[in-house]
Amino acid sequence: MKQKVRKAVFPAAGLGTRFLPATKANPKEMLPIVDKPLIQYAAEEAVAAGITDLIFIIGRTKRSIADHFDKAYELEAELEKYGKHEMLEAARSIVPPHVNCIYIRQADPLGLGHAVLCARAAVGPEPFAVLLADDLIDGAGGGCLKQMVEVYEQRGGSVIAVETVPHEETNRYGIVQINRLSDRVGRIETIVEKPRPENAPSNLAVVGRYILTPAIFDMLETIERGAGGELQLTDGIARLLDREYVYSYNFDGKRYDCGSKIGYLQANVEYALRHPEVKNEFAQYLASLQQG
Ligand code: G1P
Repeated sequence: MKQKVRKAVFPAAGLGTRFLPATKANPKEMLPIVDKPLIQYAAEEAVAAGITDLIFIIGRTKRSIADHFDKAYELEAELEKYGKHEMLEAARSIVPPHVNCIYIRQADPLGLGHAVLCARAAVGPEPFAVLLADDLIDGAGGGCLKQMVEVYEQRGGSVIAVETVPHEETNRYGIVQINRLSDRVGRIETIVEKPRPENAPSNLAVVGRYILTPAIFDMLETIERGAGGELQLTDGIARLLDREYVYSYNFDGKRYDCGSKIGYLQANVEYALRHPEVKNEFAQYLASLQQG
């Protein structure tokens, strides 16, 4: 029997420079898509995949994420007093009662590899997930991470979500070369962080969902600064390839790159067009814009 994936790490200590000034006092993971912050979509995806421990790696703007997942006594008391039951439910049901939240401070934003290493003591000797909340994924069948847990349960090893990107964009992603095993699953043979298109081994890009075995921590202890001068998770995974199987998984769903302004705006438009409260009015508004 494989060990169950029970824990998920959410790195959220980056500087969020692409969204300044919105991210001056707030992490980018707290930016809302319609009415819910990105980090909550990621937390819900993790819970849907069976995760019970959410480990947030927080930085400079540390308070808002912890406050978001915490109980808000004054707010709840006010909503209760005025009988605003729907709003009360929205404020309360951030995570179900069986889920634990853990917060770890990453004082220096040294990179994604370092952020994951900060979770070592909280994760311990078991497989775990990593979710980058700025990749918002509208996944089929209970979500992208749930699909990946199924692959992990079948095959073991580590599982990394991938998708094909335009060749000229390889320098924005971890890029893998795989040995294809089935329609959606491959064995990763090479992984490199943000290669220039002319050096990229393919145009199959890592997106922000990983299931990793605890062996990754020893690898992360030994890596040196890589692309962008940062300690890269990709470089730790590259070392893992010599020891264990690491699978790529072409998930079934749509990713919105909410780390870029365009991707963030697209996600807002598409989620608004599905949101029960605003979809009709918003669709009419968009139509009226087109008519000029
Ligand atoms: C990170 C990873 C990269 C991955 C990407 C997915 O990069 O380092 O390998 O492809 O997330 O979103 P970042 O977007 O933090 O620069």
